[in-house]
Amino acid sequence: MRLILLGPPGAGKGTQAQRIVEKYGIPQLSTGDMLRAAVHAGTEVGKRADALMKAGKLVPDEVVNAIVSERIDQPDCANGFILDGFPRTLIQADATEAMLRAKGLDLSVVIELKVNDDELIRRVAGRYSCAQCGSVYHDTDKAPESEGVCDKCGSTHFKRRPDDNPETMTARLQVYYKETSPLIGYYYAKGKLKSVDGMADIDRVTGEVDTILSKL
Ligand code: AP5
Ligand code: ZN
Repeated sequence: MRLILLGPPGAGKGTQAQRIVEKYGIPQLSTGDMLRAAVHAGTEVGKRADALMKAGKLVPDEVVNAIVSERIDQPDCANGFILDGFPRTLIQADATEAMLRAKGLDLSVVIELKVNDDELIRRVAGRYSCAQCGSVYHDTDKAPESEGVCDKCGSTHFKRRPDDNPETMTARLQVYYKETSPLIGYYYAKGKLKSVDGMADIDRVTGEVDTILSKL
């Protein structure tokens, strides 16, 4: 199963991807996570990406295309993968198709999570994650079951993303509508698009996603 999770910042792509990983055992390929790891490690890619990410701008297509192309060659991607936050431009979408075609593979489905802007801003403002395993939480909507302790790994250290501030979020939304939302039409025209009401609570969204995946 090879799927794309498409949607604006804060739509719940990462949250749903984690659940798909648990249920279907295929890896989550988040370009945002990969770029944050590169920034943290101080690599050449990380140095290029850091300021762009802090400003809410996109990292150049050739940089992310190369990262994804290398990642999908890893053995754990042999049975499928979830693309989370990639592709994000029409150039990246064409590159995805070329990468898959070169391996004789096809895309299973593109799942679009639809959420309105006020809710996106609210979600991003309340988001934090486990500093050790990356599990995502929210101040009011998704606290750990035991206060201050990560459900998944037991860590007590949490962090917030530097781009989750109101100014950068405004820039990220503008970039989404200009550069990424055209992919909705692109995949619709290819008969690959399934849209889900991402305004519903997390479990309901998971249910809808699961209904789509179980029919593949
Ligand atoms: P990236 O890391 O991909 O961020 P994003 O697309 O902005 O998406 P988010 O991670 O903010 O949101 P999400 O949809 O995963 O939501 P989540 O599940 O966390 O990209 C960051 C930056 O990297 C970009 O700005 C760019 O600079 C660069 N970059 C990355 N990929 C690139 C690419 N391909 N090309 C170029 N540049 C690239 O949920 C959000 C919050 O809401 C959480 O707190 C969660 O608990 C809560 N929540 C989730 N679902 C629900 C629900 N149903 N109800 C209530 N709360 C919910
Ligand atoms: Zn954790």
